[in-house]
Amino acid sequence: MTAPGADLPGQADLARLAQASGIALESYRQAHVSACVARALARHETASVAGLARLCRRDPAVRATLRRSILVPVTGLFRDPEQFELLGERVLPALLRTRSGLSVWSAGCSDGSELYSVVLMLRRLGALEGSRLIGSDLSGGRVELARQGAVVSEAVRREATPVLHWERRDLLREPSPPGTFDLVLCRNVAIYFEPPAQEALYAKLAAALRPGGVLLLGACEQLLAPDQFGFAAAGPHLYRKVAA
Ligand SMILES: C[S@@+](CC[C@H](N)C(=O)[O-])C[C@H]1O[C@@H](n2cnc3c(N)ncnc32)[C@H](O)[C@@H]1O
Repeated sequence: MTAPGADLPGQADLARLAQASGIALESYRQAHVSACVARALARHETASVAGLARLCRRDPAVRATLRRSILVPVTGLFRDPEQFELLGERVLPALLRTRSGLSVWSAGCSDGSELYSVVLMLRRLGALEGSRLIGSDLSGGRVELARQGAVVSEAVRREATPVLHWERRDLLREPSPPGTFDLVLCRNVAIYFEPPAQEALYAKLAAALRPGGVLLLGACEQLLAPDQFGFAAAGPHLYRKVAA
């Protein structure tokens, strides 16, 4: 590939770049990868994908820029507010009917805004102290930001720290965190994956939930056949794991 455009990098080039960037590029939507690669080639005035891979290995700044472009760390507190309305008014109170605290995983948590939004809601419901919340992301930089908790007040951060755990984890290449969860949020992550990688991810998320537990996907994401993963539709972009 020599000019910005939508050409797909060849398999060998893609494999080289995947290794240099530390991202399983073959599992991401190829149109997305091609657009990111084209921008990187133009930005660094590089003529080939193999050259870009070499540059990534040599220069951490080039690697970081390419990773950021592919991973798309866009997020925000209460992003897509109608989803949090649904969580706060229906989903969390229903889950809390049978337990005093919840086990929650934000898979692809970026800077932690998504999980801190859940923290604020559990706090309001008086259920933060007995809960266990895990945020994971492929980007170590985002995980570090999440750990710093800059998106909430110092008081909330201090209160939440004992029940929060942040970790770097690749949803494509690593297992789920240990334990089973009442609620998994995986929003605006699978949208960048190719269909086979999406399916593998949804199966992994289903296995991480206890029966009766709930998966929330992003506002642009849905399961076409929820029963394929042992889910029943429970609301917009919301799926309840059915008992085996
Ligand atoms: C668009 S953000 C979504 C953040 C948050 N879930 C939200 O909706 O506000 C996508 C996040 O998924 C993470 N991500 C992408 N691929 C991943 C992977 N293979 N494993 C773990 N996290 C990944 C990115 O680093 C990024 O922080």
